[in-house]
Amino acid sequence: MTRPTLTQSTGPAHTRILGIGGVRGENLVTNDEIAGPIDSSDEWIRQRTGIVTRARAGAETDVLDLAEQAARRAVEHAGLTGADIDAVILSTVTYFHQTPAGAAIIADRIGATPAAAFDISAACAGYCYGIGQADALVRSGAARHVLVIGAEKMSDFIDPTDRSISFLLGDGAGAVVIGPSDTPGIGPTVWGSDGGQAQAIRQTHSWKETQTGAGWPTLRQEGQSVFKWAVWQMAPVAQKAMDAAGVTADDIEAFIPHQANMRIIDQMIKQLKLPETVVVARDIADTGNTSAASIPLATERLLREGKVSSGALALQIGFGAGLVYAAQVVVLP
Ligand SMILES: CC(C)(COP(=O)(O)OP(=O)(O)OC[C@H]1O[C@@H](n2cnc3c(N)ncnc32)[C@H](O)[C@@H]1OP(=O)(O)O)[C@@H](O)C(=O)NCCC(=O)NCCS
Repeated sequence: MTRPTLTQSTGPAHTRILGIGGVRGENLVTNDEIAGPIDSSDEWIRQRTGIVTRARAGAETDVLDLAEQAARRAVEHAGLTGADIDAVILSTVTYFHQTPAGAAIIADRIGATPAAAFDISAACAGYCYGIGQADALVRSGAARHVLVIGAEKMSDFIDPTDRSISFLLGDGAGAVVIGPSDTPGIGPTVWGSDGGQAQAIRQTHSWKETQTGAGWPTLRQEGQSVFKWAVWQMAPVAQKAMDAAGVTADDIEAFIPHQANMRIIDQMIKQLKLPETVVVARDIADTGNTSAASIPLATERLLREGKVSSGALALQIGFGAGLVYAAQVVVLP
């Protein structure tokens, strides 16, 4: 028998971010409000992390509510409607359901049905993982418009007495729409993982263990190891993303790293030798660390406040629990 040759899909040569939207938890929680149970202080937290407040959502708001609001804003900013979206990728580590995927629910809520929809678990690298996938889906012809959402209600997984990570965390969601472009708008994604360091940032115990009395799980990290890993190993990843995109530090207009710690951001700037003219996202000071939401939220803010303009070249890098990381150079919407 003669087997037919399959048709494989192909898509447009280039992609870009068409629209962006973001939403933060409505309560700005000060350092003084959380310092007591961890025997810390406003001064210590500001000096060691750069955080002044963290945005936290109220009890009545869940992570999908945040995701939906950001998604609606991104789709509108792109000049599209839900019906134009072919795929929804939701990156989150704070959605309560193992199944079904939150992305399918968001697709339904915004009128994107029957868009393909799935969740990804790549923690603080999740937004950049999503951008890499969306870019590939559009260029392969698998989808024309992909909605990428990073959404977290981190406050659902904090322990107020934990000194290692809880005090850093905030709530929010950021979303973008990726679609076809006449010119290149998303550089190659440089990404990877190091599961040998899976314990460095982790959930205290598994869902299975909650059945045997372990209680509600929260997050913990080995702060110093994560700090060193981020400072020494992530700058080379960001450099590779610039190399792969064919640009140098002098071409970059905005640096938008994951908002983990102001000292990590400052160290990365030094190692990458970014000129002083580069606008640096420092949203962590007000918003805290919102994991998958941090990069799109920081990007949305730079654009909204007019610190960078549409069309600017931005270097973005996400890194976190896994350990996992991803970076790319993008043209801002
Ligand atoms: C968590 C972090 C702020 C802790 O800061 P650090 O400078 O590494 O703190 P250390 O663990 O070295 O502890 C230094 C001192 O501060 C104290 N300390 C630790 N956490 C504290 C806290 N939350 N408040 C007050 N004091 C604290 C320690 O007890 C220690 O005191 P000592 O010198 O008297 O023994 C820092 O490690 C960090 O930001 N790591 C990376 C975090 C990150 O980015 N995570 C997310 C990645 S996605």
